Amino acid sequence: MLVTGKDGQLGRLLVRQLSNSCRVIAVGRSALDIADRRAVADLIGAAAPDVIINAAAYTDVDGAERDSREAFAVNRDGVGALAEAARACGASLLHVSTDFVFDGRGGAPYDEASATNPVNAYGASKLAGERALAASGAKHLIVRTSWLFSECPGNFVTRVFALLHERDALSMVEDQIGTPTEAGFLAEVVGRLLRAPDVFGTETRLLHVANGGQASRFEVAAEILKRILAAGATPRVRHIRPIATAEYPLPAARPSDSRLATKRLRDIYAIEPPDWRTALDGVLARVLPSAERAPA
Ligand SMILES: NC(=O)c1ccc[n+]([C@@H]2O[C@H](COP(=O)([O-])OP(=O)(O)OC[C@H]3O[C@@H](n4cnc5c(N)ncnc54)[C@H](OP(=O)(O)O)[C@@H]3O)[C@@H](O)[C@H]2O)c1
Repeated sequence: MLVTGKDGQLGRLLVRQLSNSCRVIAVGRSALDIADRRAVADLIGAAAPDVIINAAAYTDVDGAERDSREAFAVNRDGVGALAEAARACGASLLHVSTDFVFDGRGGAPYDEASATNPVNAYGASKLAGERALAASGAKHLIVRTSWLFSECPGNFVTRVFALLHERDALSMVEDQIGTPTEAGFLAEVVGRLLRAPDVFGTETRLLHVANGGQASRFEVAAEILKRILAAGATPRVRHIRPIATAEYPLPAARPSDSRLATKRLRDIYAIEPPDWRTALDGVLARVLPSAERAPA
């Protein structure tokens, strides 16, 4: 099995998860730039994996507005290169995509048949990657997920945790809702999917994987604050102010309601996603002890 993007949040957890049960070749950007079509063909041709899991992506949502060429080079052309190389050596490709392919105006959780309509360059580049893969002829599965969090640095939960300790005051938008999803849960689901019979052979080429429940960014931050106070932490911020998106303008627009429906995951694979709050408890239990050990 070959995992790309091994140093990212999901890549790390995937490698940890999959290494228990199979031989994993894990490559980060320095070993394989997926936007380099020749390098992709050479490495995959030489490694001849049975399965490729693509966790590499250009994920800077605001950066993609300024540098959409780079976002498309990685998220569309890089995926296209992986798909071409997979087809050439008969490998199957499990690719990770995003809730940001939707515009957020549907008013209900999006299922796999929902119409896409990204509202920013990042979402457009990820949708273009899905389309490049679907058109490639490679055996594949596209797993869409949303609002990934984990104990690894650089995601919403670890950022809020740090801000609560660094800032005197904190505001969070309350008019964007989604399904927060633990990256470790997604890695576990990927492991289970790969053990399921014929996961790349079914008509199901799209699958939504997210934790249960829903939340606004404000609600996620408030749950973090509540839990760390209960655990005896001493953040500087004791109250988070809910604000509207309009009060905190960013370069990229965000879908206001990008909740993912996971009926297909439950019906076909009998996987019942735990509520995101349960997953948050587990992540904070790992974040809190290491934060206490860190120097002030
Ligand atoms: N994070 C979320 O909230 C979220 C939500 C929905 C879907 N997703 C999707 O989930 C997947 C994993 O996301 P994540 O949270 O793990 O993101 P991440 O932490 O940003 O990891 C992405 C990894 O890809 C690497 N990368 C970037 N450009 C590359 C290139 N040209 N060639 C090879 N590697 C490259 C990055 O390396 P550098 O660090 O060197 O740039 C990074 O290690 C992505 O497909 C993302 O679109 C994420």
